[in-house]
Amino acid sequence: MSETHQSLVFSGMQPTGNLHLGNYLGAIRNWLKLQELHRCIYCVVDMHAITVEQDPKLLAQATREVAAAYIASGVDPARSIIFNQSQVSAHAELAWIFNCVARIGWLNRMTQFKEKSGKNREAMSVGLFTYPVLMAADILAYRATHVPVGEDQKQHVELARDIAQKFNNDFGVPNFFPVPEPIITGPATRVMSLRDGTAKMSKSDASDYSRINLTDDADSIVQKLRKAKTDTLPLPETEKDLEGRPEADNLISIFAAFGEQSKQSVIDQFRGAQFSTLKSALSDLIVAKLVPIADEMRRLLSDPAEIDRLLKKGADEARALAAPVLADVRRVVGFVG
Ligand code: TRP
Repeated sequence: MSETHQSLVFSGMQPTGNLHLGNYLGAIRNWLKLQELHRCIYCVVDMHAITVEQDPKLLAQATREVAAAYIASGVDPARSIIFNQSQVSAHAELAWIFNCVARIGWLNRMTQFKEKSGKNREAMSVGLFTYPVLMAADILAYRATHVPVGEDQKQHVELARDIAQKFNNDFGVPNFFPVPEPIITGPATRVMSLRDGTAKMSKSDASDYSRINLTDDADSIVQKLRKAKTDTLPLPETEKDLEGRPEADNLISIFAAFGEQSKQSVIDQFRGAQFSTLKSALSDLIVAKLVPIADEMRRLLSDPAEIDRLLKKGADEARALAAPVLADVRRVVGFVG
């Protein structure tokens, strides 16, 4: 990492409804720790959302919901910048320039596009293909140096690194962009479905019992955990015994993440016990943490104008930070004016 760039954290989440435990443990909770130490920008990436079809009314609602979730979880709008991507045109502008820096071959290697498009590649939007280029623009419009993301986004951050390096190189401006570092939020926070320990907890899973939503009330949290899939063995003695027991592993991992302790210490606490014991202790932990967040989200969402005001304030701050970077980019590229 070059010392010429001040440390700055950038991350984002798509506004696609049904925020769940995985979003909280895998992303937002780490953002809170980072904002203690660094300048941070947390974006609601509504432009990424429209790479697949969205209902405009639901998109607006989901954008406010994600912003409310950030704030209710403790992202502090006085300290960190919170805004929605589409309000700051620098993202789209820089993405165009990066479309001309990135190579088709690089994008062809992106595993997320391959997974999302499957056999339907020809029917996908061009935006879905260049999604990671927009992500590079998000990061580099602020010359961000650190990018907290889940394992599934690591390849996209690597693409942003390649774009930064190629830009610096092609235009003969060493150090113009920092080469951003991913901060990978570890496997302990990879939260799996409560119905299938081998599938990621997902907002698009048809069964609501597969996930704990950030807005679930205490009763639903307890119910969902009670119904969570398990196996028939007692809880294990060692971490090694979790191999081949994905559901046990998931529940123990969630407990460890919430209790901020190691998996082994959770295992020590529950070894040989029945799943029901672990499940009820886990319900208590989750309810204690999430119910106040859900209450605060509801309070914030009852006044959408106030959320819009906060997002606008964040967008103004973001725009002011991106403006000098974009002015430099325009000069380097040779744009007049
Ligand atoms: N693609 C990311 C995701 O789905 C969201 C995202 C968009 C992002 N732009 C970003 C994350 C920039 C980090 C930095 O999780």
